[in-house]
Amino acid sequence: MARYGLIADIHGNREALGAALAALDARGAERIVCLGDIVGYNADPDECVALVRSRCSVAIAGNHELIGLGRLDFERCSNHAEYALRRTRRTLGKDAAAYLKGLPDTHVLEPGIVLVHGGVRDVQQYMANPAHIQENARYLAADFPGARVCFFGHSHEQRVYEVKRDVDAFDVQEVAIDGQVPLRKENTYFVNPGSVDASRKNRHKLAECALFDSAFGTVEFLRVRYDAAATEAKAAAFGYRIDPLTDRLYTLRRRIGARF
Ligand SMILES: [Fe+2]
Ligand SMILES: [Fe+2]
Repeated sequence: MARYGLIADIHGNREALGAALAALDARGAERIVCLGDIVGYNADPDECVALVRSRCSVAIAGNHELIGLGRLDFERCSNHAEYALRRTRRTLGKDAAAYLKGLPDTHVLEPGIVLVHGGVRDVQQYMANPAHIQENARYLAADFPGARVCFFGHSHEQRVYEVKRDVDAFDVQEVAIDGQVPLRKENTYFVNPGSVDASRKNRHKLAECALFDSAFGTVEFLRVRYDAAATEAKAAAFGYRIDPLTDRLYTLRRRIGARF
């Protein structure tokens, strides 16, 4: 049992990662857990991998790690993600790549507490609504018998879904994320701590993360300021932002199914 700091979807954003770690440290996090997508989109993949390596007791692979390492292709990426990941592939250092290659796809944090990146069986699936959660609650019950809590990332939004099991039916409800959110023993929960990187968000430029106290069964969500202008300037300067012409070329290439 511990007070965990949960981070996900860092995406090469060193400024946001530093801010999230400082906030979790200040709130007494004892162990930091990373739910994947350490790289992609922004200009500091090696620095973020080094920080995760030194600060996290557990980390799992996201789809951006798998694409960055060439283990998945670009088929299910947006143009922006593909462009930044091609850059990441060229930039990523040997040490960082070796660390990322060793990350597992899933992890059991404590008995009944499971970490995944996207869907339970599909790292690239977005669990973004109750229907997705219902489908994945079945997978979780089958693949991780007795699991009560599934922490996930990938969809980049702070969420708690509560699943009540009634014989073979799974009733899913989204739960408000204000204050300390209790995870009741009789239900199953899917929890996304949000995205550390906010570079693709329009609503706010805040690094998101969460605290999970496994002794008390509570989750608390944090949003902290970071130097988003510095992140954006570096991403633009170092070739992580797709220009309009390349964007149109990528779209055209997808339409005709060409590989270039
Ligand atoms: Fe992500
Ligand atoms: Fe992802």
